Amino acid sequence: MTAPASNDALMEDIVGLCKRRGFIFASSEIYGGYNGFYDYGPLGVELRNNIKQAWWRDMVQRRDDIEGLDSTIIMHPDIWKASGHIDSFSDPLVDCKESKRRYRADQLFFAPVILDDEKVGYVAFVEGTDSASIIKRAKKLRDNLDKKQSKLDEAVLSSDHTEFTEATDAQRELTLAPDANAVGSLTAPRAFKLMFETKVGPLADDSAVAYLRPETAQGIFANYKNIVDTGRVKIPFGIAQIGKAFRNEITPRNFIFRSREFEQMEIEYFIAPDADWKALHREWIDTCTDWLVSIGLSREGITEDIHPEDKLSFYSQATTDLMYQFPHGEQELWGIACRSDYDLQQHQKHSGKSMEIFDESSKTKYVPHVIEPSLGVDRTLLAVLTAAYTEDEVPNDKGKVEKRTVMKFSPKIAPVKAAIFPLLKNKPELVEVAQKLYKKLQRRWNVFYDASGAIGRRYRRQDEIGTPYGITIDFDTIEKDGTVTLRDRDTCEQRRVTEAELIDFLEEQIDG
Ligand code: GAP
Repeated sequence: MTAPASNDALMEDIVGLCKRRGFIFASSEIYGGYNGFYDYGPLGVELRNNIKQAWWRDMVQRRDDIEGLDSTIIMHPDIWKASGHIDSFSDPLVDCKESKRRYRADQLFFAPVILDDEKVGYVAFVEGTDSASIIKRAKKLRDNLDKKQSKLDEAVLSSDHTEFTEATDAQRELTLAPDANAVGSLTAPRAFKLMFETKVGPLADDSAVAYLRPETAQGIFANYKNIVDTGRVKIPFGIAQIGKAFRNEITPRNFIFRSREFEQMEIEYFIAPDADWKALHREWIDTCTDWLVSIGLSREGITEDIHPEDKLSFYSQATTDLMYQFPHGEQELWGIACRSDYDLQQHQKHSGKSMEIFDESSKTKYVPHVIEPSLGVDRTLLAVLTAAYTEDEVPNDKGKVEKRTVMKFSPKIAPVKAAIFPLLKNKPELVEVAQKLYKKLQRRWNVFYDASGAIGRRYRRQDEIGTPYGITIDFDTIEKDGTVTLRDRDTCEQRRVTEAELIDFLEEQIDG
């Protein structure tokens, strides 16, 4: 296995733009930040809401077979006993005895250090480390061994990467940890529980222990009976939920990719036990891929990672992850799992309530099986930011070519849909018409009014936050035919349109 290659410069550019333009801030920044937590600023919250709304509209409102749900974050602790989370929701943790740092063993890799054709030890490095840094660490190990003159095999360092979960005791003893000076400082992996605990009610003893949900899925299983009994659902059908999830991640990293508080958009899609689950799984993989493309990710950038059978949980029939090329490498974006009837059977057993459904078409009763497409909102947002971030060159007002940063968001999810500019701010007749159009568009969409500065600079400010359309009110608008200039963010092309044409166009592009 090879640790994914990273593009640190792109990540830095995205993080910088997010802070500068008010998309995303480190949580509690005035107190030095809080690792694994992020706040969404004015533009970030718009983008995030638009992603969630697009998902809800496409997966719930525009389908006849999926119902929505909003369950609580804190639920009866027995739910987590039944689901298996209390006993086994953990990650393999490795401590470095020298640096006191902690790593997730499945995100730590090691590579052999070969000097003059002899294996003398190993270097460990975290996921996303580039080859040059790995070679630097191997040279440190060589120096420690006082073998500066020996020839280091650099090719094997770049290609032979093994997950640290697979390291033997003997290999660990010879491994130089990422932040250590001497070999042998890493402990063997041990299970680290990921659920955040809290106490509910006035008693502070063990009976008051509750958990912040680590996934929204269990809220769906716990309400499955309510929806079957109150809705008019018939198999196959799904229940969808968007909401916060919390995991005490050992190493929250890569900006919002892996955080301790995040949001999920999950569907549990219930099917008959004898249904062709393989075909339905394939259908869901395709539906999810198409949806990602519909919000602006390129189809070529999405790949499928089929989990090998020997790595599946005992109850799982199949899992395919949709992977995306993030700045820190190709990583999981959307997990689509066939979970059999495991969860409902567990809740039936622990709650004593029947989870059976009567299937009208076959006139039989059974506990349904489930296909679970599970997607992170924040991870989708990072994928969208990565796909949109572009640096190109365009002519300015005077025709001189200059560099610009432009976020090429799909109009469907762009935080600001259009910016309205009066050509000059000191001409009341232009301002009046621009304000009137602004107020009209504002009733339907998040639009922005900007009258200050040269028009070229105003365009650039909007390009950087990904506003797809610029609408300029000029003298032709007020003196001739009432048409306005509509500028396209990506091509910079401009055309004149009437107000009715403008609204039809925006409607098609944004709401279509
Ligand atoms: N109910 C199944 C489930 O929760 P998962 O693979 O653990 O499966 C599903 O999580 C999705 O949630 C992931 O594909 C990812 O998009 C998102 N996700 C998981 N952990 C995350 C974290 N710490 N930070 C941000 N997103 C996360």
